[in-house]
Amino acid sequence: MSETAQAPALPYEVIGGRPVVQRLVDRFYDLMDEDPAYLALRQIHAPDLAPMRRSLTGFLSGWLGGPRDWFEANPGRCVMSAHAPIPITAQTAAQWMAAMGQALDDAGIDPDLKTQIRTAFGRMSASMVR
Ligand code: HEM
Repeated sequence: MSETAQAPALPYEVIGGRPVVQRLVDRFYDLMDEDPAYLALRQIHAPDLAPMRRSLTGFLSGWLGGPRDWFEANPGRCVMSAHAPIPITAQTAAQWMAAMGQALDDAGIDPDLKTQIRTAFGRMSASMVR
């Protein structure tokens, strides 16, 4: 057995890097755009979702331990306070979690990591409701 200490794999590596983060985010916004179950959530977003696809992909890449471009481009921005001006209700938070849950399932992510991500997003979303 090797004596060399192995650093634990970063969530960004476990998930499959940028292509999988991109796939997850694209699936999330496609669902939001196309499935009427997410209409209330869609309505509080801008008509053009392209900037959000870029922003959420960048945020999640850094948040998972990958490239930190989003954090460097937005020094000091906190994703929780970025939601403060948005009128998030229990209904839109539940739709966000349902769409993201479906996107996580469809993106074929490692089950343990998926559970951890879902738990973390659930806490964040619950704190964004006013
Ligand atoms: C409670 C559920 C949530 C709702 C209803 C919600 C809704 C929104 C809305 C309406 C926007 C602005 C969209 C636009 O301008 O078109 C936004 C932006 C964003 N959201 Fe959420 N969000 C939720 C949870 C989350 C969570 C849990 C995360 C992180 C994992 C997140 C990450 C982001 C990011 C990165 C942006 C872009 C911020 C920026 O570039 O300034 N959101 N969200």
